[in-house]
Amino acid sequence: MQIAVVGSGTMGHGIAEVAAMAGMEVKLIDISWDILNKAKERMYDSLKRLHERGTIKETPDSVLSRVEMSTSYEIARQSDFAIEAVPEILDLKRKVFQELDKVVPKDSILATNTSSIPISDIGEITSRKERVIGMHFFNPPPLMKLVEVIPSKYTDPDVTNFTVDLAKKMGKTPVRLRVEVPGFVSNRIFLRLLQEACREVESREATVEEVDSSARNKLKLPMGVFELADYVGLDVVVDLWKVIVERGGTDVKCSSYKEKVERKELGVKSGKGFYAYPSPGKYSKVQLPPESKVPPERIISLAVNEGAWLIENNIVNAQEIDTVMKLGFNFPKGLLEMADEIGLDKILNQLREISDMGYQAYLPNPVLVKMVSSGEIGVRSGKGFYVYK
Ligand code: 3HC
Repeated sequence: MQIAVVGSGTMGHGIAEVAAMAGMEVKLIDISWDILNKAKERMYDSLKRLHERGTIKETPDSVLSRVEMSTSYEIARQSDFAIEAVPEILDLKRKVFQELDKVVPKDSILATNTSSIPISDIGEITSRKERVIGMHFFNPPPLMKLVEVIPSKYTDPDVTNFTVDLAKKMGKTPVRLRVEVPGFVSNRIFLRLLQEACREVESREATVEEVDSSARNKLKLPMGVFELADYVGLDVVVDLWKVIVERGGTDVKCSSYKEKVERKELGVKSGKGFYAYPSPGKYSKVQLPPESKVPPERIISLAVNEGAWLIENNIVNAQEIDTVMKLGFNFPKGLLEMADEIGLDKILNQLREISDMGYQAYLPNPVLVKMVSSGEIGVRSGKGFYVYK
């Protein structure tokens, strides 16, 4: 199996590494040798860590011997599958797909690792829109087990099945969306966490550190919400927010992320975002106060409401949402499992309180309202998103 990866940045080099670790032949394409050489160093560094920890038996050099790099698309002439991972600019993605469409064999599949751009918008530019699909990895790809598979309205079901199998061959757990929605499952929920975190800070309910302390110490998330935004890249956060809201997602007034991007403080990649990091591209866990007054149910309330929306619209079910959050974001428990434990009545109270302040996005979803009004409030009542014996 030969895989072409276009774009060797944060996600692209990680995807190439994952494919090579799975024994696949990889063709990695980018616009300059400087960028490609940097990607090779990053793959080597990551593989070395995985080898030293015993996660992989093969040496980094042996894995990397399956990766060929080039600034030309010509090396993808024999590829069975291509994955694009370039910045979130629709015109740029379309250009990449036009190039791939010319070079990659006609019966091969073209996938995009976009965070939020609709797959149909990208596929339409090619001569094979039924062979174009979303294959969404999580940062860092070598560690995160999830791959979201997003068929567009044109995608052939065989292409979806092939992509699901490919994700499994790469050692990942695929979650397949039934219908394409902007931001998919992962980033729709991530957006809601970002929005609520921002609302709390900008309305002076809490500081950045207090929100993150509650996320990490009370909810036991691996990173605080702002810390995760820094890790993903604040430019990426602003882009995915814009794409989802422009396509119908409800907005929440917030300027914090945009202001950081305007100041070129992009998070880990630039060495500074909401927090300072040792050097550009080098993450180290941020120091947070052990105590925080922020109720954990407040942090996840809007995200749970989004989960209810995804269920209401039959995009995925509760288990699939939780798989996304556990394997894509390393949540210790699923988002809806957490909601059931906290109590859906408490989640609903948070939503009502905040929507009463005038925030449209927090209007409780009918699925949630119905559950609470019929006494399904989670673990305490024996039934919520899940049934408890
Ligand atoms: N390759 C190999 N190993 C790596 C690695 C990489 N790229 N990155 C980190 N590691 C290793 C470290 O070397 C360390 O190994 P050790 O235990 O042997 O010393 C181990 O992983 C833990 O790393 P750290 O000590 O640096 O830090 P943490 O314990 O905080 O773990 C983390 C890092 C795994 C990233 C964890 O913080 C986490 O799970 N965070 C959440 C990440 C997340 O949510 N990602 C999804 C973002 S959203 C997204 O990508 C979608 C997009 O569309 C926006």
